Amino acid sequence: MSSILIIDDTNKYWELCTRFMPEHTFLPPARNFREAEAALSRSRDVELVLLDVHFDIPEEQLLPEDKTDLLAKGDRNRALERLRRAQGLHILDRLRRSHPDLPVIVMTSRDDLPLEADAERLNAEDYTYLLDDEYLDARSLRLQVEGILARRTRPPAEDEPFYWGQSSRMLALRRRLSILARGRLPIILLGDTGTGKSLLAREFIHARSQRSGPFVAVDLSTLPHELMAAHLFGVVKGAYTGATASRDGVLARAHGGTLFLDEIGNLALDLQKQLLVVLQDGRYSPVGSVDERVVDIKLVVATNENLATMVSTGRFREDLYMRLNPATAITLPPLRDRGEDFGSLLDTFVARVAREPYNRDLVLQYATQRGLQAPADGSPMPIAIARALPARLDPRRLHLLLHPSSFKALREFDWPGNFRQLEMFLSNLITLTLVELVDQADVVEPGDPAQASRPDVIPILPRVVRDLLRPMEIPRAGANPEAAAAAQDGSLRMPVVVKPGESLNAVSCDVERQYMEQMYEKYAGDLGRMAEALLGDAGGGRKVQLRMNQLGIKLRKLKRRKADS
Ligand SMILES: Nc1ncnc2c1ncn2[C@@H]1O[C@H](COP(=O)(O)OP(=O)(O)OP(=O)(O)O)[C@@H](O)[C@H]1O
Ligand SMILES: [Mg+2]
Repeated sequence: MSSILIIDDTNKYWELCTRFMPEHTFLPPARNFREAEAALSRSRDVELVLLDVHFDIPEEQLLPEDKTDLLAKGDRNRALERLRRAQGLHILDRLRRSHPDLPVIVMTSRDDLPLEADAERLNAEDYTYLLDDEYLDARSLRLQVEGILARRTRPPAEDEPFYWGQSSRMLALRRRLSILARGRLPIILLGDTGTGKSLLAREFIHARSQRSGPFVAVDLSTLPHELMAAHLFGVVKGAYTGATASRDGVLARAHGGTLFLDEIGNLALDLQKQLLVVLQDGRYSPVGSVDERVVDIKLVVATNENLATMVSTGRFREDLYMRLNPATAITLPPLRDRGEDFGSLLDTFVARVAREPYNRDLVLQYATQRGLQAPADGSPMPIAIARALPARLDPRRLHLLLHPSSFKALREFDWPGNFRQLEMFLSNLITLTLVELVDQADVVEPGDPAQASRPDVIPILPRVVRDLLRPMEIPRAGANPEAAAAAQDGSLRMPVVVKPGESLNAVSCDVERQYMEQMYEKYAGDLGRMAEALLGDAGGGRKVQLRMNQLGIKLRKLKRRKADS
């Protein structure tokens, strides 16, 4: 039995649900956002929210509270009506701030279909179209409710190779991919480099596909064009000089299993046609042969290019693209967009990286030196990353203690190489820190009070984090190219324009102003990171802003320029 909150200005859905789902407790409906917040803070065991979209409620109850801008232009009543028609989405936004992981089912009916702009946002949520037919509506709601509650009681196992986290968006992605994995249709994986496409294909999709054949992966970006056909389809003896024996291609090897074509955008146009035939008829011919072979594969493709654009510019066949099932393409978010579960994400990755053989030995060495208790069965020493000193000494677990400014810097870092880069960063961090401590133990007298009191805690100096992050920064597109060239050695070289005949003071202000503008661009307008770089204090954003004001820099103008570029 689960506790469910309905947010709706009428009793309609509450009556429907209590009648058709008597096994759950439905709290009295909340009529607006304020009532919903109150209900959620009263009943902390609410597991699910059902949210209507259209709210016919008085103006003062409508979100946003400050409607001055919205109502300033045009017809006031029409503006209010628009707000009422999409009020559920405003409520959803607010709920996501205070309850980022609470499952919400958005209910829309024919009369209040979401606007196109909202559709993408809704995609990350569970939502259901209702038809104003009691039985059908009750059935589709029930399906959704049961699905979500089942998911909630079975969170992804901690040791799943792909880290999903707990955000509703990632859980929805996982559920969708589990369904696609079992089907026969191809799957497209999209996402920037290092977001886990290859890992997912191998460890998740193939593992769940219930196919008995092998998993075979090919990276098409590393195959020379002239070898591609033979590599994929195989070759018969004598097909060309050098083909001294018949050889199977990856297609034959993947028979009965999964074929993962990485960087599919690199597939030569003539081979795209042949792959299409494989998908359509399950047939192909090896190079140099007219005999047809039959093959049964589940195809997974990945790319960080925009395939639709490639289609429009003629670099990718439209028929193949359509056959790859673009409607269900899965886009993996970059690391910088995983802020909501960044804390547990760091923890998981630290534990993983610490298990790598070299780090694992170092951790053990450190633990033994400091009298901690490594697991007796030889398994790796548990290690976590903490932002505050854990209350009590636990000699069976290590904590890397991260300064809050370092945590913030990590969370706000751009991570252009995503999880691959995070793994490297953490591996460096563990190795560098532990090597130093292990070596120190040979020279420092045992009994150093600072060390001896909490050997389970390893403080990480903010400087170490900064020094490891800095070389990984890549200036964003649109930034000054000269600055980009100079970033290699850490220095920033920039053209500065000064007016002849100006006083030294005016010239230095000029230089500083232009420097600040460059920094603003480099850090994408993040004053905290600018302060960290300029003053060594991430909390000094306000100071930076004041100085920019003094120099006559208009932040609003810079923002607009950034948006335009
Ligand atoms: N969500 C995740 N959970 C755990 N590990 C991850 C995750 N995403 C990526 N990784 C790790 O990051 C590294 C890069 O992942 P992977 O090779 O799958 O990325 P990719 O998207 O295929 O990148 P590319 O486009 O460069 O091929 C791997 O070591 C992988 O284990
Ligand atoms: Mg890959």
